[in-house]
Amino acid sequence: MPNWLKDAVFYEIYPQTYCDTNGDGIGDIKGIESKLDYVKSLGCNAIWLNPVFDSPFMDAGYDVRDYYKVAERYGTNEDLKHLFETAHEKGIKILLDLVPGHTSDTNEWFVKSKKAEENEFSGRYVWTKSVWDAPPQYRMMCGIAERDGNYMVNFFSSQPALNYGFNKITHPEWQKSPSDPDCVATVEAMKDVMRFWLDMGCDGFRVDMADSLVKNEDGEKPETCKIWKNIRKMLDKEYPQAAIVSEWCNPKVAIGAGFHCDFYLDHDTNGYRHLFRHKDNKTGECKAVFGKNGKGDISAFIDEYLDDLEGTKGKGYISIITCNHDTPRMTKMFTPEEARIAYSFIFMMPGVPFLYYGDEIGMRFMEGLTSKEGGFSRTGTRTPMQWDSSANCGFSSAPADKLYLPVDTADDAPTVEKAEKDPDSILNTLRKVIEIRHANEDLQADDNFEVIYAVKNKYPFIFKRGKFIIAVNPTEKEQSAPFAFKGTAEFEIGGYKTEDGYIYMQPQTLLLMRL
Ligand code: NOJ
Repeated sequence: MPNWLKDAVFYEIYPQTYCDTNGDGIGDIKGIESKLDYVKSLGCNAIWLNPVFDSPFMDAGYDVRDYYKVAERYGTNEDLKHLFETAHEKGIKILLDLVPGHTSDTNEWFVKSKKAEENEFSGRYVWTKSVWDAPPQYRMMCGIAERDGNYMVNFFSSQPALNYGFNKITHPEWQKSPSDPDCVATVEAMKDVMRFWLDMGCDGFRVDMADSLVKNEDGEKPETCKIWKNIRKMLDKEYPQAAIVSEWCNPKVAIGAGFHCDFYLDHDTNGYRHLFRHKDNKTGECKAVFGKNGKGDISAFIDEYLDDLEGTKGKGYISIITCNHDTPRMTKMFTPEEARIAYSFIFMMPGVPFLYYGDEIGMRFMEGLTSKEGGFSRTGTRTPMQWDSSANCGFSSAPADKLYLPVDTADDAPTVEKAEKDPDSILNTLRKVIEIRHANEDLQADDNFEVIYAVKNKYPFIFKRGKFIIAVNPTEKEQSAPFAFKGTAEFEIGGYKTEDGYIYMQPQTLLLMRL
C-alpha cells in the first residue's frame, strides 16, 4: 500500500478547461503547472488528471488513439514529464487516467485489427466470426471493416472493446477465454502502458470502467478481478508507491481485486445519491440528506457505507467525491451554503477524498449547453475554471467564441478572486477543513468511524472519528439529539448548545469537536 495515500487529498483536473496558456481556448499542461501553487494552497497533495492522450476526442479523450503520446492540444510528453517533476517538488502526486476497457476506433491497434489479413492485433479486440453473426445482446458495430466480422463496443460507438475474454462463453466460435494468448497479450500491453508513464514519473492511475474488462460476467466479476490482481502484483513488485483508484463503485470487490481506492459514485439509489443528489422523480423535490429542506434519509447511506467500510477494513479506501466530470455539480440542486456543508463533511470522512475543480468556489452546473466531445448531459459540469475578473474569468486569452466551452460570466458567477476575500467562502472553509485533516491522523483515510446518532429520516447526523466528534445539521431548522457532549469545537459552521444531555444544533451547522 503506497503510504502517501493515508493523508492524500485529491483534486481532479479536467485539462480542457482548467487553464489555457497558449490562447487557443483549450486548457493545457503548462496551464496546470502554472496553478500548482493554487492546488497546494487548497491543501490538496494529489491530482487526478483526466485523459491527456492523443485522441480524436469523440469522448473527451476517453477514446485513446495513442496511449504513449500526449495530445498536441495539451502539449508534449516533455511537458507532462515537467509537470510531474514540478508537482513532486511541491509535494503533489499525479495520477493519470488509464482507459483499459476500450480505445478509439482510430487507435493503430484497432486499425490493424480491422484488416482482413490476420495480424498481431486481430485478437486485440472482440470480433465475431462473420458479419452475419451479430447476437443482439451485445453492442456490435456491423459491416464497417474489410474484415469479415462485427466488433463489440465498450461505451460509445467509436470505442471498440479491448479483448480480455469472456467469463461465460456462449459463442465459442468467437468468444475467447481470459487465458487465451490474445487476451493475455491485452493485459500485458496495458501493463506496458502503465510502466511507460510510471517510468516518466506519474504516481499511478485512476482507472476508467475498471469493471468492464472481461465480458459475460456478473456480480463480483471474478475474471476481471484476476486481471487486476495480476496488475497489482506487477505494481507491488516494480512500483510499490504507485496507486490505482478504480471507477467501479463496489469497494469490497474492487479493493479485493487489488485497487487501493474505489470511487463512491453518484449511482441510482445508492448511498452517495442519497447524501447529495437524491430527488423525487415526479416532483423534483430534493430528498438528499444534505438538502436544507430536511427530507433526506441518512440510514440509506449509513447501512451501505458501514458495510463497505467493514468489507474494506485495512485493505483499501473508499473515495468520496464532491463531483466528477460525469456528474452534475452539487450546485445544480444545492445553494452555495448547502454545498459548503456537504463538501466540508466529505473532507471529514474516512477514505481518500476527491475535490472536483471549481467545486471549491461553488462553480455552477451550466444548463442548456450543446454537447461537446461526447459530453451530452455532462457538458454543464465541464466548463472553464473561473479564476478572476479578467476576460473569460482568467481561463484563456482567446476570443470568447473560441473557447472549448463558454465561461460562466454571470455577474454573480463565483471566482477564485472573489472567494479568496470572503473568510466564509467555500474555498476558505475547505482550506481550513483540509488543514485540520492533515494535522490530525484521526481525520485521515483510516477507517475509524463510529456512528453516534443516525436515525432514519431524522437530523442531526453525529459520528466519531478517534478523538473527534462530527455533527451535522444541514437543514434550515434547529435539530437536537440525545448526546451529552463535553469538549471544544475545533471548527464550526453555525452554532450549537448542549443542555440536559442533548445537543441543539442551529440551522445549517457542521461541527468538528475535539473530545
Ligand atoms: C467513464 C468516464 O468517466 C467517462 O467520462 C467516459 O465517457 C466513460 N467512462 C467511457 O470511457
